[in-house]
Amino acid sequence: MKPVKLGLLGVGTVGASTALVLKNNAIEIARRAGRDIEIIHASRKTIANGMPAGCENIKLTADPFDIVDDPEVDIVIELIGGYDPARELVLRAIENSKHVVTANKALIAIHGNEIFAAAQAKGVNVAFEAAVAGGIPIIKLLREGLSANHIEWLAGIINGTGNFILTEMRDKGRDFDDVLKEAQALGYAEADPRFDVEGIDAAHKLCILASLAFGIPLQFEAVYTEGITQISTEDVVYAGQLGYRIKHLGIARRTENGIEMRVHPTLIPEKRLIANVDGVMNAVLVMADKLGPSLYYGAGAGADPTASAVVADIIDVARTITTDPQNRVPHLAFQADQIVDIPVLPISEVSTAYYLRMRVDDIPGVMADITRIMGESDISIEAILQKEPESGAAQATIIMLTQKIRESKMDLAIDAIGKLATVHGSIHRIRVESLGED
Ligand code: HSE
Repeated sequence: MKPVKLGLLGVGTVGASTALVLKNNAIEIARRAGRDIEIIHASRKTIANGMPAGCENIKLTADPFDIVDDPEVDIVIELIGGYDPARELVLRAIENSKHVVTANKALIAIHGNEIFAAAQAKGVNVAFEAAVAGGIPIIKLLREGLSANHIEWLAGIINGTGNFILTEMRDKGRDFDDVLKEAQALGYAEADPRFDVEGIDAAHKLCILASLAFGIPLQFEAVYTEGITQISTEDVVYAGQLGYRIKHLGIARRTENGIEMRVHPTLIPEKRLIANVDGVMNAVLVMADKLGPSLYYGAGAGADPTASAVVADIIDVARTITTDPQNRVPHLAFQADQIVDIPVLPISEVSTAYYLRMRVDDIPGVMADITRIMGESDISIEAILQKEPESGAAQATIIMLTQKIRESKMDLAIDAIGKLATVHGSIHRIRVESLGED
C-alpha cells in the first residue's frame, strides 16, 4: 500500500520534533497505522535553517501555501501557531480535500466552529489532540473514552508555563520574571508569553475542553479569565500555612442554570493529587457520572510531548484513510446537529469559597466590624488567621477563608469592608475550590 504523505507547516520546536518522531519511530508507527507515513514537503519561514538532521531529504519551501496546494499531500500538519495565516492555510487545505492535524489551540478556540463545519462539508478530518494539555490524550478521552458518561465538571492545570512559574516560586522562592525567562528558554512559553501568564492560553484550552465535555459550541469569549500575574510569594506562603496550594486552574462545570467556564488562580487542598502536579506538568480532573472522578496527568508543553500527540493524530487520520473514509468520531464529540446552546454564567453568578487578605488597624473592634459585614452578607467564615504586626507597626494582616458564596455577594461585602476606616489598601481575594466530589 502507498505511504500516507504529509505536508508540514512550520519546522519550529514542535515541527522539528514531529519530523524526528515520525522518522525515529517509523517502524512502530507503520505497525500501528497499517501503512508507512512520510513527510514529503515542509515549509519554514527561514528556509536557510533547513530540516533537522536525518530529515534533509524532505522538500522545503518558504511559502506555506505550496504545501496546502501540493496535490501529493494527503494530510497537512499545521504547526505554525497563531490565528493568521494558520486559519487561511487550514481552510485552504480543507478546500483542497486534505485532512488536517494541528496543535494550534488559539486557532481551534477562535475559529474551530468555522473550521469543523468546513471539514464536515468536505468529509475530511481535523485532529487537534496536541492543542490541549500537550501530550495527555485528553481530547480522545473526552470524545471517546468517557462517551458513556454525563460529564459534570472538569478542572485542569492546562498551562505548563504558568504551573512551572508557580512551582518555582513556591519551592525555591524564585522571582516571577526570572522563572518566566527560563520557561521561554525551555520552549514551554507561547511566542507572546502574556498568553501564558494572563491566562489566555489556558482559556483557549478550557473552551475546547468544555465543548467536548458538554456538547456546546466553542465560545472563547465567554470564558472568565484571570492570569497569575497578581499572585505574590506571600500568597503562596499563606496558602501553604492553611493547608492549600495555589494552582492556575481552568474549570468547566455544568450547573442547573448553565455552564461555568473560568480560568483563575485557585486554592486547592494540598492533599488532592492535582495540588501536587508541579513544574511543566499538566493534569485534568474529570468528574463523570458513571466513572466518578478520574485524573489525567502528563507533560503539558515541550517539543517531544507535544509531538507525541501530533503523531497520534496523524496515525488516527492515516487509519481513517486506510480503513474507513467516514468521520468515525464527530469533531466535538457530539453529532453536529446535537450541539446546543446552554447559557454560560457570568462570574458574578458563580459560587466559590474565598481566601481574603487585608491590612487593618491593630485596634479593638476591627474584627467585629468585618465579621458583622460578612454575617449581613450571608458569608460564613471557615478560618481566620491574624498575623502579629511587625514590631512597632500599627497595622496587622488578616487572612480569612470563607465558605461558598455567590461572587456578586462577595463583591458587595468586599466593597463594604474596604470602606471601613480601619481597613487599608485593597482586599486581595483568591477563589478556593475543594475539588471534592460535591
Ligand atoms: N505555552 C503552552 C504551555 C504550551 O505552557 O502550556 C503548550 O500548549
